[in-house]
Amino acid sequence: MNILKKIMRYRRVIITLFSLLFYSACGSKNDASPAPAPPAITILKDKAPFGIGAAVKSALLQDDAYKTTVLTYFSQITAEYEMKMQTIWSGENNYNWINADALVNFATANGLNVHGHALLWYQSFPDWFKNANYDSANFENKVKVYIDAVVSRYKGKLKSWDVANEIFNDNGTLRSVDCPVYKTFKDPIAFYGRCFQYAKNADPDAKLFYNDYSVVIAPSKRYSIKQMVSRFKKEGYPIDGLGEQFHYSINTDKTSIKSGLNDMATTGLLVHVSELDLKVNVNQSNTYVFSATDQQLQADTYQYIVETFEGLPANQKFAITTWGVSDKYTWLTASWNAKEYPLLFDLDFKKKPAYDGFLKGLK
Ligand code: GLA
Repeated sequence: MNILKKIMRYRRVIITLFSLLFYSACGSKNDASPAPAPPAITILKDKAPFGIGAAVKSALLQDDAYKTTVLTYFSQITAEYEMKMQTIWSGENNYNWINADALVNFATANGLNVHGHALLWYQSFPDWFKNANYDSANFENKVKVYIDAVVSRYKGKLKSWDVANEIFNDNGTLRSVDCPVYKTFKDPIAFYGRCFQYAKNADPDAKLFYNDYSVVIAPSKRYSIKQMVSRFKKEGYPIDGLGEQFHYSINTDKTSIKSGLNDMATTGLLVHVSELDLKVNVNQSNTYVFSATDQQLQADTYQYIVETFEGLPANQKFAITTWGVSDKYTWLTASWNAKEYPLLFDLDFKKKPAYDGFLKGLK
């Protein structure tokens, strides 16, 4: 297993060395002719020096085309829902590890990294927990036990975790009415800071992220996130990275993408494009046809996002993760009731122009 992991980690170097050996051997037969250029790398994970991730559902791994696509093109996975609190924490002392374990075992057996998602998310506190009406001390104690149980279980197997997901509104205020943390703590940010520390205690090597949507297009939200990062640094709470989900569309303003992503990077933290997908059926029409024009626009937008990410400092480029693998199973079609085509592979798992756009965006 370790050998497989090492091969995955150093695959770019290995591919380059083999190419050089091959071409120098060919060259020696006829020294007069110039050595041909090495073949272009066409597999995303082989071309990128950072993680190329996909959100994966364990049940879909039964579909051979899905599984092969994950294994061929991606170097890391995020659980689409299997590692959320609601899925794992079925009761105060009951943990359901079945699906999370299945994903982690699949990844370990195949040399894929796993990004843990997400320890704390307002939408994913289980009902039994919310209904218990804990006071702040009990609330925090339970959450601490939960974080310790989950992060310790996968210590050394996961390389990173989203500790908190979506705690701010787009206008920069803290999410309140629907958030049990907000209702329980006078200073929710300090609570989140302590949760980062609990995760760090459980696995000191895991990179810890804050994750949210619209970070690049909502300056007030981004400002609040940066303020939180400054406070964490000042008060000694560990944080390694920021995730921006990137659920956007082919119409999303490119200038904001660039300035927002660069602004996130001024924190000096790792940056994760963590849930990338690009809607095309922006009017949610039931008669929408995914035209060649829209396919190209989508490809161009993917390329732009990847190029912009590539422009960040090398040591801050954590990964780009698409939220799903193929248009066949995208969450958007399920939740919009209108057909969507947001990903890199089509309904038959063939590469779309979007894939070529993504590939072109990589240096
Ligand atoms: C958010 C969450 C994801 C996923 C999507 C779609 O982006 O972070 O885990 O649930 O919503 O539902």
